[in-house]
Amino acid sequence: MAEFKRIVILTGAGISAESGIDTFRSAGGLWEQHRVEDVATPEGFARNPNLVLNFYDMRRAALGNVAPNPAHEALARLEREFSGELLLVTQNVDDLHERGGSARVLHMHGELKSALCTSCETRSPWLTTMIERPPCPVCRAPTLRPDVVWFGEMPYQMGRIYHALETCELFVSIGTSGAVYPAAGFVQEARANGAQCLELNLERSEGSRFFHESRLGPASVLVPEWVEDVLGC
Ligand code: OAD
Repeated sequence: MAEFKRIVILTGAGISAESGIDTFRSAGGLWEQHRVEDVATPEGFARNPNLVLNFYDMRRAALGNVAPNPAHEALARLEREFSGELLLVTQNVDDLHERGGSARVLHMHGELKSALCTSCETRSPWLTTMIERPPCPVCRAPTLRPDVVWFGEMPYQMGRIYHALETCELFVSIGTSGAVYPAAGFVQEARANGAQCLELNLERSEGSRFFHESRLGPASVLVPEWVEDVLGC
């Protein structure tokens, strides 16, 4: 592992599962409790903004009841100690990577603790609720929405991600089902450009066959083990 100099890591809901945040597609997961069309599309927001604002207000508030687990902490250690280039991309909208100690996290699907103004398009840090239609801190219009990428919208910083995927030597996917594109296609992109591809997941993901290796188990165990490997401990 120590020979890799450029690594891209993609994380999904599975890395936060042991911290107590529901994944999307597990039995009883978020998409069994809520309809995607209602709470994760621009059309759903236009139809029933209160329902959508409340859904994300609750998820933002719930972050106060959870804490990072050893998988988040191990990736923070990797960021501190790895001498090569590392890009940590997460599909997660929680802040557990940051609270686990990672300073540089690319949130491709946005963040619960951020608000997007639909008038001036500014993204602002946001820690409280939006249901009462607070004014945008920049333009004062009462037009804030959760800064979360919904189905049908473009994830953030795709150019930067694809550039890293073209040049990385190792691509590691952690705790994601591989059900949602474009993230689900990252493994094929990295592999086509010659990277070794490793998945760390509780079970085989939908794109498991594209990885050179799959290690199956809980992220809180697999990720610290893998980080030790990379750092050559
Ligand atoms: P999913 O719920 O689709 O998949 C979570 C994956 O984590 C599954 O493959 C689980 O087997 C695995 N998993 C569960 N517990 C784990 C553990 N303790 N250790 C390791 N793996 C574990 O979540 P995502 O793949 O993140 O997008 O979903 C991708 C996107 O779909 C989300 O970002 C969200 C959702 O719709 C948007 O809302 C735009």
